[in-house]
Amino acid sequence: MDKDFINLAARSLVWPVCLVGAIENEKHNIMTVAWITQISANPLQLVISIDKSRYTHNMISETGEFMVSILSSEQKEIAAVCGSRSGRNVDKIKQLKIETVPSTVVKVPRLAGCLANMECKVVAQYPAGGRTLFVGEVVAADVGKENLKPMIMYRGKYIG
Ligand SMILES: Cc1cc2nc3c(=O)[nH]c(=O)nc-3n(C[C@H](O)[C@H](O)[C@H](O)COP(=O)(O)O)c2cc1C
Repeated sequence: MDKDFINLAARSLVWPVCLVGAIENEKHNIMTVAWITQISANPLQLVISIDKSRYTHNMISETGEFMVSILSSEQKEIAAVCGSRSGRNVDKIKQLKIETVPSTVVKVPRLAGCLANMECKVVAQYPAGGRTLFVGEVVAADVGKENLKPMIMYRGKYIG
């Protein structure tokens, strides 16, 4: 099978672009994540695929908690910065002047201005190559303004 076709076929899946946040020892960090999906309705569970090299990976492993903030189509600069810089070297939240909102169950704060925030507790994790699949149970959530549209990626380009 031609490898180019395999890659193109895989990239034909539509990706919702989100931020995943974690907090450890008062240090709050966010990263862009597109490999995320709901896997169960009752209980409500999501899975995120996080490369082991990410700073956020260590934070989630240590704390067992994360926040998913669904980005709107207006937040492309946030997606680009949080998807290319590491919290090891830069405070992305401060640099982008992102407003945070206290969460209700987990320690990781919510982010203002997003489509929705979902507070997650890790209930399982599975190795997948150089990545870890973290299964998170959604324990609290909020939704943003009704008129916001989601940020969507298709074959490496934004279509929303
Ligand atoms: C659109 C987009 C989607 C991304 N999706 C993922 C993903 O699903 N999993 C992942 O491990 N990295 C993903 N990344 C890369 C990370 O966001 C990036 O490496 C980030 O700088 C890691 O930050 P950290 O070191 O502060 O955790 C994505 C980047 C972009 C631009």
